[in-house]
Amino acid sequence: MTDTTPPIYLGLEGVYAAESKICKVDGTAGKLWYRGYPIEALAANSNFEETAYLLLYGKLPKRPELDAFTGQLKSNRDIPDNVKSIIKTSVGKAPPIDILRTAVSALSAEDKELTDSSPEANMRKTIKLIAKTTTIVAAIGRMQSGKDYVKPDNNLSHADNFLYMLSGSRQDKKAVKLIDLMFILHAEHSTNASTFASMVTASTLADIYASVTTGIATLKGPLHGGADEAALKMMRSIGDPSNTETYINDALAGKQKIMGFGHRVYKTYDPRAKILKAWLTDIDNIAAGDQKRLTQITLIAEKLMIDKLGQSHGIWPNIDFFAGPLYTWAGIPPELFTPIFGAARTVGWCAHILEYWEHNKLFRPLEIYTGPLDLEYVPIDKRK
Ligand code: CMC
Repeated sequence: MTDTTPPIYLGLEGVYAAESKICKVDGTAGKLWYRGYPIEALAANSNFEETAYLLLYGKLPKRPELDAFTGQLKSNRDIPDNVKSIIKTSVGKAPPIDILRTAVSALSAEDKELTDSSPEANMRKTIKLIAKTTTIVAAIGRMQSGKDYVKPDNNLSHADNFLYMLSGSRQDKKAVKLIDLMFILHAEHSTNASTFASMVTASTLADIYASVTTGIATLKGPLHGGADEAALKMMRSIGDPSNTETYINDALAGKQKIMGFGHRVYKTYDPRAKILKAWLTDIDNIAAGDQKRLTQITLIAEKLMIDKLGQSHGIWPNIDFFAGPLYTWAGIPPELFTPIFGAARTVGWCAHILEYWEHNKLFRPLEIYTGPLDLEYVPIDKRK
């Protein structure tokens, strides 16, 4: 490296790569807005369908607009037979997030509009993707427990229908509300790794199925969407609330990262995590047995971590810290946490892809080459 070497921003930290009107994250104040609306207002008053409309179209819908959009989502819920077969032959062999990735990729084979890149066709594909990713996740959950696919019920909302397709029966209102909230909170989060990855694919003018497939692949890792499952695994290995302090101390002494803590942008409490903590505290009041132990471990670990790393290091809980114990309360198995995240984030991926295509520019960063040059080519038999 010389004085004239251009700076490298590892992990593109601090680099602005696009303009967007979709989402603002204020990592210092701990605030989040979708299309200008505070996340707290949407969490308290909206539902997934309305929030998805807002993110895609840039405004809150009037009643007829929401009814039409909800109708389009419902009519696109069912999944083709080729996708059901992929799920059936993959469960038990591949993790659900990989099956989701493969199944979404396979959806393109059944879309007659695949090569139509008009904005209208891309919006229709977006609606299909939002509807079908959720059905795919429910189908994976069903089939991995050896049960048959449950057809969507178009009398039910997105969240209610998801739990119905997953469990085969109607679930109580509080569980439906929680899943709806999870879908709202996970729907969008600016240029996080998976959204950026899907935009990179889209910038080559590959189609929206290819771009969303990239998003799912990128979401998988434990530094991103996979943190929800990893955080629950950690809480399970703690086992009993009385072990929490020793576990956290040992983990930090061993330089181990605590999953569900820290964020590239938030240097304070993630506002989505605050909303989920209120839910978890509420459930802690009524929980018993295993759920109570899990809830207690989570709340004790949160307090310990904030005392040790909050103000001093800017490492605070993120959305993934509380997601697992809440999903567990709603009866969702851990390996479905990240696929649910992906089904919800399909909205954000597509919103960003559609927006970026309005002024598309191929993503193609540079790197500084640090290897040798002009080496002599030696034929294979003469190499020493
Ligand atoms: N536990 C303990 N130490 C941490 C943690 C953590 N969860 N997160 C960051 N640190 C430390 C890290 O060890 C490093 O310390 P040092 O400077 O001494 O080496 C310092 O903080 C900076 O960490 P970094 O990983 O270089 O920072 P980043 O901005 O690249 O990382 C992050 C952000 C999310 C990858 C990181 O905080 C992390 O790995 N957290 C755990 C995984 C997680 O919860 N991910 C979900 C993110 S939110 C949902 C989503 O968008 O997917």
